[in-house]
Amino acid sequence: MKINRISQFFFSPTHSTEKIVIAIAAGTGVDPLNIIENNLTYPGYDETLIDAQPNDLVIIGGPVYAGRIAITAIERLQKLKFAGNPAVLVAVYGNRNLGDALIDLRETAISIGLRPVAGAAFIGEHSYSTKKFPIAKGRPDNLDKEKARDFGEQVAQKLQSLQSLENMPELTLPGTFPLPERRVIPPSYVDTDAARCIKCGACQLACPTGAVYNKGGYKTTPELCTICCACIKACPKGARIMVSEHVKGLAEKLFQSCADRKEPETFI
Ligand SMILES: Cc1cc2nc3c(=O)[nH]c(=O)nc-3n(C[C@H](O)[C@H](O)[C@H](O)COP(=O)(O)O)c2cc1C
Repeated sequence: MKINRISQFFFSPTHSTEKIVIAIAAGTGVDPLNIIENNLTYPGYDETLIDAQPNDLVIIGGPVYAGRIAITAIERLQKLKFAGNPAVLVAVYGNRNLGDALIDLRETAISIGLRPVAGAAFIGEHSYSTKKFPIAKGRPDNLDKEKARDFGEQVAQKLQSLQSLENMPELTLPGTFPLPERRVIPPSYVDTDAARCIKCGACQLACPTGAVYNKGGYKTTPELCTICCACIKACPKGARIMVSEHVKGLAEKLFQSCADRKEPETFI
């Protein structure tokens, strides 16, 4: 089967998943005008942006949080419905571990009417990475993006060699199945240092869950904050501060224990 159009869906608070999904789509050779971007990162996405046709190749991607795909990404994907489209699954992690993220995506994909044909794990700069404690700094880099484009080309070749999606051998992916319980991420939140804040609103715009609001200065609703760190990375003045000492300690530990460069893996 030949692919003429791609619908890509990603949740990507700090933009690494977004870069990889875009590079994979580019590698397929599909006309860029026929590559449709559906960004699930921000509140309100489902009312306005969803666009998929029955014969599209669908690419879905999300970041790994505690060995699974971020729950917000899964919840947003679960609101979609497809008509048996072939799908590429993309998990992006911060050079620590992929965990069961690709199994998570596969099960979600099947439950919303997609047929997984390939999967990939790529590496992005860790959300907790800081100047002092960089973790996978600058990833995905050019080499990662080149690998993503190569993978896109392989996906297009695989689909071209298939007469139909019926009787396709099951995709083998790393991880545990059935999926174990999700690990609980200790609740925390990111706050504003009022002395440094210039009230530009970048933090509010970057927040995927609507946790940041403006009431005489930018504040955070702790229960909505997923500590994705998008606001920290978006703030031009370093005014968004991680509250949790646990997370700060973890960042230092990961800086030490995840220093060796991991490479992308593809499953096709
Ligand atoms: C709450 C949280 C948990 C995370 N857990 C993991 C993990 O288990 N393994 C890992 O390698 N990276 C982990 N990361 C790092 C992200 O997977 C990584 O930074 C990814 O590139 C973020 O994708 P995005 O840029 O598309 O948002 C975690 C990040 C956050 C915010």
